[in-house]
Amino acid sequence: MCGIVGYIGYRDAYPIIIKGLHRLEYRGYDSAGISLFDKELKVYKKAGKVSDLENFVKGLDLGGSLGMGHTRWATHGAPSDRNSHPHSSNNRKLTIIHNGIIENYGIIKETLISKGHIFKSDTDTEVLIHLVEDIQNETGLDLKEAARVALTKVIGAYAIVIMSSEEPDLLIAARKGSPLVIGVGKGEYFIASDATPIVEYTKNVIYLNDNEIAYIHRDGLLVKNIDNTIQTPYIQELDMKLEMLEKGGYDHFMLKEIYEQPRSIRDCMRGRIYPQLGKVQLGGIKEYTEKLKNIDRIIIVACGTSWHAGLVGEYLIEEYARVPVEVEYASEFRYRNPIITEKDLVIAISQSGETADTMAAIELAKERGATIFGICNVVGASIPRTTHAGVYTHAGPEIGVASTKAFTAQVTVLTLMAFYIAQQRGTITQSKLVEHLTELNSIPELVEQALKSNDHIKEIAVKFKDSTNCLFLGRGSSFPVALEGALKLKEISYIHAEGYPAAEMKHGPIALIDDDMPVVFIATKDSSYEKVVSNIQEVKARKGHVIAIVTEGDTQVKEMADFVIEIPQTDQAFVPLLATIPLQLLAYHIAVMRGCNVDQPRNLAKSVTVE
Ligand code: G6P
Repeated sequence: MCGIVGYIGYRDAYPIIIKGLHRLEYRGYDSAGISLFDKELKVYKKAGKVSDLENFVKGLDLGGSLGMGHTRWATHGAPSDRNSHPHSSNNRKLTIIHNGIIENYGIIKETLISKGHIFKSDTDTEVLIHLVEDIQNETGLDLKEAARVALTKVIGAYAIVIMSSEEPDLLIAARKGSPLVIGVGKGEYFIASDATPIVEYTKNVIYLNDNEIAYIHRDGLLVKNIDNTIQTPYIQELDMKLEMLEKGGYDHFMLKEIYEQPRSIRDCMRGRIYPQLGKVQLGGIKEYTEKLKNIDRIIIVACGTSWHAGLVGEYLIEEYARVPVEVEYASEFRYRNPIITEKDLVIAISQSGETADTMAAIELAKERGATIFGICNVVGASIPRTTHAGVYTHAGPEIGVASTKAFTAQVTVLTLMAFYIAQQRGTITQSKLVEHLTELNSIPELVEQALKSNDHIKEIAVKFKDSTNCLFLGRGSSFPVALEGALKLKEISYIHAEGYPAAEMKHGPIALIDDDMPVVFIATKDSSYEKVVSNIQEVKARKGHVIAIVTEGDTQVKEMADFVIEIPQTDQAFVPLLATIPLQLLAYHIAVMRGCNVDQPRNLAKSVTVE
């Protein structure tokens, strides 16, 4: 899950590549590097962020209208200058950038070392470019063919770009399991891991498919399958605006994305709900309507925040559609021997649509005959292209590494799916649907109201910014919200945080409570309110500090809690969409106050394309 950018055309490549790397930095920020070619092949690379690379190259020769760059999330080899991409061949004539993992690099490396190759890094990537050179030496094949043959010999996942000092009018790009997009301009082409570095130059893009290799010249490109058959690339138009990729006056992308939620939830519902008619319409899955009537079970697979959304979905689908639901970590599911039948529906949730474990879980379920739906945010990503059907979240590009608006959009889609399936299976009355959909339609305004607590939340953050631990507790569908609140806090502020079902607190976490422990409760007015109130008392009795998310107008919890944050009254089904908002803001402010880089937390990456 590194970021890749390439350019071939008539402009200076360097500014395009550096800007593109900044856009892709969410994919990894352990090191960055570039290759440029004008009269000679230049390689500059540096451990650290893209800005460190920029400082490093100041005053150096940055000329060339052919080039490529890489921002790395380290897998093989520590984050250091020498392990940074691009990597060069033994003869220094070829360079490569790579996203993914070459699993059989060890054996290939041994063979190459025995032939006299000298390696300069600990990476799997360097092995691949030496292999290309070796094939050229041994067979006399040209670079294009040698690269293709080399790719037939590697096992693993990759998106790569190769340049050669002897081919100043050629970039070679290939993908298998890691994304790669080619921007098609006039007399110029752009390559990137996603469309964000491309959108300001051209809206015409080709999403390379797995096992495809593109030979790109200034005046045209040829796409082949790895087995050497010529492919006809499909050029499509990007539905992305440049301002979606800017901070738009906010200090951080994360804050901008938190504030975008009224809009993103509205976009997610647009054209899909008809409150007065009591009707949900999901075009992406409508061909499977009959199938939905007969499914025995739904299995949701996902990772990270998307898994939390899946847990909320479990409550909603079981409640309304009355289908049993299991929610699985994709990484665990793929390595079990799960029992899957043709009567199962598997729903894969992924913001990026590229998460390796989720992809693998889909493949496994597909092999065993299940129907697979996707819930993805990035249009055209790998997951929506491998599932049978699906629903996009339409949250727009999410750039902050910690997921915010993608989560609420995923929950919104799951809510729509729950009602859609309920509608098909007749497990909900028309009048109930009218009632729920009317309320759902007002959620964007209620989210707007919830955001108004921002200043109050900032004051609370001041009190807890130096905490070392924090507990998040909730019941029912507020339990996954507690998990998500804990994840937000730990990933961006590095405070140890745990989410727990409130009633389970007595079976362990209660031992942690003392007068240093903040405990965040989701204590909204719903069917488990009284029980949660008792749990709050248990924490107070042990001198814990309680921050409670409550329903507007609540008086009971207000008397017990140290701090309360109100959210508007809504239908129990939609509480997760509102209760998440203050938890995102709390994590954000605490992280900012601790001086953390909220958009690029340490060791994390937004899109995890390795196991
Ligand atoms: C990474 C990200 C998380 C995300 C998870 C799953 O860990 O940092 O924010 O929830 O991957 O990603 P996906 O794109 O599949 O939703």
